[in-house]
Amino acid sequence: MQAKPEPGRSYTTGAEEIEERVLQLSMARGLDEVFAIVREGARPLIGADGVTFILRDGDKCHYAEEDAISPLWKGMRFPMQNCVSGWSMLNRQPAIIEDIYADPRVPHEAYRPTFVKSMVMMPVRRDDPVAAIGAYWSYRHLATEAELRILQRLANAAAVAITNVGLINELKRAQQETEQAKDAIIMALGSLAETRDNETGNHVLRTQRYVRALADAARHRAPYSAQLDDETIAVIFKSAPLHDIGKVGIPDRVLLKPGRLSAREYAIMKSHVEIGHAAIANAARHLGACTPFFEIAQEIALSHHERWDGAGYPQGLAGDAIPLSGRLMAIADVYDALVSVRVYKDAIPHADAVEIIRSEAGRQFDPGLVDVFLEIADEFEAIHRRFADDPETRPRA
Ligand SMILES: [Fe+2]
Ligand SMILES: [Fe+2]
Repeated sequence: MQAKPEPGRSYTTGAEEIEERVLQLSMARGLDEVFAIVREGARPLIGADGVTFILRDGDKCHYAEEDAISPLWKGMRFPMQNCVSGWSMLNRQPAIIEDIYADPRVPHEAYRPTFVKSMVMMPVRRDDPVAAIGAYWSYRHLATEAELRILQRLANAAAVAITNVGLINELKRAQQETEQAKDAIIMALGSLAETRDNETGNHVLRTQRYVRALADAARHRAPYSAQLDDETIAVIFKSAPLHDIGKVGIPDRVLLKPGRLSAREYAIMKSHVEIGHAAIANAARHLGACTPFFEIAQEIALSHHERWDGAGYPQGLAGDAIPLSGRLMAIADVYDALVSVRVYKDAIPHADAVEIIRSEAGRQFDPGLVDVFLEIADEFEAIHRRFADDPETRPRA
């Protein structure tokens, strides 16, 4: 049992320390930070032998954190009606108790195994208490005005922190919802375009995964490492489903024609890259800002049919003048077309597709990326199997 402090001994570590704790508390961004501050710094400020932080949890009081000379009730929950923290929160006022065994608000059986003789319970957020801070003494002690003031300040700061934590969580939830809605819309739009010429929308799921696998493997190699970081790869992954969005503007007689396209039809078909690019640019204009997402989505839509040798479309760009995102998508898109059934062709085996891509290094595709592809071709096959359109269209081993 701790001895009573000598008269005149300072039980705080100074006004600066209090300010520091109050500031830390009010700036906490999570409940765990609030707990840590209570655990590590509150007790010396008050000069108590124990401090607890109690959260209201429905009709229970949850003793969430403590710092004391011997264990109190950390982790336990008591009915609001049955503990001093509950009384303090329900009555919106502090409970200042000099002798706990003389006070009917105290559940004596819960206190008997502890060191506590005197205590103060301070509600957090007086108007609508959501928590309480308890201070405990191992000797009989009537809390002084100064101690009550410090406790009150800590409670006020904790109230600010808890309100902020609530707001931050709400904000995070809203951001997450927006992000999820965005992803779902991108997927829906992407697969809408694909389902017009494919039986299923799995092509968009697969191509975005091939592209990510290729980018993940390429990021450790020059010259790609300078252009590929986690964030860029994540944006490429998210915008990849929009690569063929322009196909919604291609008439069925061209898009669904089983035979060979005439020169005129082929020209119409090729326009899907510009239609897609324009649609995404339009969306970005509406937003009033071209975020990395829109920038890369436009790049991929416009450049995924360019060829390394300059014979592609629409601009006839060559070599690394073609955006990296478009060069990645070109390999992903062609691999998937080769191993899948289309209206105009059967699927070919994975090994044959790998050979075709190998033979196109430096012609249709960036030779450096083809090297990367050859290293991870198994991953492409696994992705194709995992997101197969139906068993018959899976690549043969
Ligand atoms: Fe395309
Ligand atoms: Fe595609």
